[in-house]
Amino acid sequence: MKMIVCVSEDFGIGYKGDLLFSLPPDMKFFREKTKEKAVIMGRGTLDSFPGGKPLKNRVNIVLTRDKNFAREGALVFNSKEEILEYIKNFPEDDVFVIGGGQIYEMFKDDCSEALVTKVRKKVPCDTFFFNVDKDEKWALSDESELFEHEGTQFSFCTYRKI
Ligand SMILES: NC(=O)c1ccc[n+]([C@@H]2O[C@H](COP(=O)([O-])OP(=O)(O)OC[C@H]3O[C@@H](n4cnc5c(N)ncnc54)[C@H](OP(=O)(O)O)[C@@H]3O)[C@@H](O)[C@H]2O)c1
Repeated sequence: MKMIVCVSEDFGIGYKGDLLFSLPPDMKFFREKTKEKAVIMGRGTLDSFPGGKPLKNRVNIVLTRDKNFAREGALVFNSKEEILEYIKNFPEDDVFVIGGGQIYEMFKDDCSEALVTKVRKKVPCDTFFFNVDKDEKWALSDESELFEHEGTQFSFCTYRKI
């Protein structure tokens, strides 16, 4: 299982229920990596999508405590254990944890790799990813060149669990 996330300089990922950045090259990266795969998300992240609709061409797995929650096109679970049971026969590379803050925190020990888009900006945020550079369980294994989109610089980093 892998995580995929886009972070600001201080590992912010969201503010008031929305993403911090709208970076088309990162959206493209996300789409390419997760296409036809299973994506695990919290109910907060599902609600942040346009119209609260699940992502097309993916198996959308949503975690909520609400036993009555239903959303067309989403598979709804009430515990992490139920999700792990559901995905146990999926190939390890075919499952992505896509957020948000609570869900990354919950699944980080179950992931072997983290695809982290690092944006070289600090902006107001209220939701965070853990500082993967300071976590001794994780090591940077690959970093792309520095790209720029409309004045925003970013790079694509891969971290592996040690
Ligand atoms: N930068 C990025 O790459 C990225 C990616 C994804 C999201 N985001 C941002 O992150 C923010 C959302 O993150 P978030 O942390 O607020 O929400 P979240 O992690 O997406 O979802 C939280 C929800 O998950 C459910 N949940 C949490 N723990 C649970 C448990 N133990 N059992 C059952 N259900 C559980 C609860 O749903 P119920 O309340 O329904 O019970 C909870 O409200 C948004 O701002 C979004 O834009 C950023």
